[in-house]
Amino acid sequence: MNISIETSLEKARKLNRLRSVPSDYELENVKKELLALMQKINAQIVCHYYVDAAIQDFAISSGGVVADSLEMARFGKESNAEVLIVAGVRFMGETAKILSPDKKVIMPNLAANCSLDLGCEIESFKRFCSNHPNRTVVVYANTSAEVKAFSDWVVTSSCAVSIINYLKENQQEIIFAPDMHLGDYLKKTTGADILNWDGHCVVHDEFKAFELKELKSRMPEAEVVIHPESPASVIELADFVGSTSQMINFVASSNKKKFIIGTDNGLIHMMKKKAPDKQFFEAPTAGNGATCKSCAHCPWMEMNDLRDILAVLRDGRNEILVPKEISYSARKSIEKMLAFNQLKDVPKNRKTL
Ligand code: 13P
Ligand code: SF4
Repeated sequence: MNISIETSLEKARKLNRLRSVPSDYELENVKKELLALMQKINAQIVCHYYVDAAIQDFAISSGGVVADSLEMARFGKESNAEVLIVAGVRFMGETAKILSPDKKVIMPNLAANCSLDLGCEIESFKRFCSNHPNRTVVVYANTSAEVKAFSDWVVTSSCAVSIINYLKENQQEIIFAPDMHLGDYLKKTTGADILNWDGHCVVHDEFKAFELKELKSRMPEAEVVIHPESPASVIELADFVGSTSQMINFVASSNKKKFIIGTDNGLIHMMKKKAPDKQFFEAPTAGNGATCKSCAHCPWMEMNDLRDILAVLRDGRNEILVPKEISYSARKSIEKMLAFNQLKDVPKNRKTL
């Protein structure tokens, strides 16, 4: 793990350990004040499924959204709000700002990052690409604005398969960054010629195939639903692979009653809301030992707190700013992804390996 990932991870874990749990009374007061302030300045919350359940519920009840990366980007762009409060990680705030340069975009904690973004530093990535000048550069949304600005295409997990298929049909050879496992999945699913950058998600990388196989044998009636940032050995055991929103849609529409979920366990909150009659079990990580740090929950997503949203809104702090030239180039790649998705049907992603 590189030093910037380790430092940022330690900082996130420390902050999460030190944070107090709000009482119901405190939470109710925070929500009341926040709602009044948001109405006054015309603000909306755009949040990801991995953040605290209290933020997800408040986002929906106050007219915002809880979504996957692609839908977050789209919602922010189309929103009539003047202020977007992004509850998620940094690349999500940057994407919102790039797509809506005239809106004010704020985040409760600017140190909320992502191991994929941190592991793909722009200068090293440029050097890597310069050794393969004929390849089309496709980057995952979980990257910095600079990396997006340098890319030919941006994809999220919900549209990566269709975009890579399209590039393959057009005889393109591809560099994919930064997630190695997603890149491998795309290579196997589409048969495209893909050269991967070596990046990993600290959460999904921890899912274990051997233990998952054991769990599956004890629950043969359960369907295994996995996010494509997970290792290939785990994906091989899946009945369905897709983005967070696609995973929710799959469990809600399946006729099965039990599901083993291989992604950040924050997603289970929305799965229970959409499918209250069904049961969800977390896919195993190496999380049984006393010294284990892998709890299937993203430490950076955990940094989002309703009290901090109120504080930054009150003080006008934590605005996301992206330099103009970077924003301009990054927007071209992101807009291309959004336009592509309006033209093509999103694939079902039932396992095709
Ligand atoms: P989704 O786009 O599937 O929500 O994924 C974002 C992410 O960071 C998963 O770890
Ligand atoms: Fe990044 Fe992984 Fe956290 Fe998603 S879960 S934001 S990929 S570190």
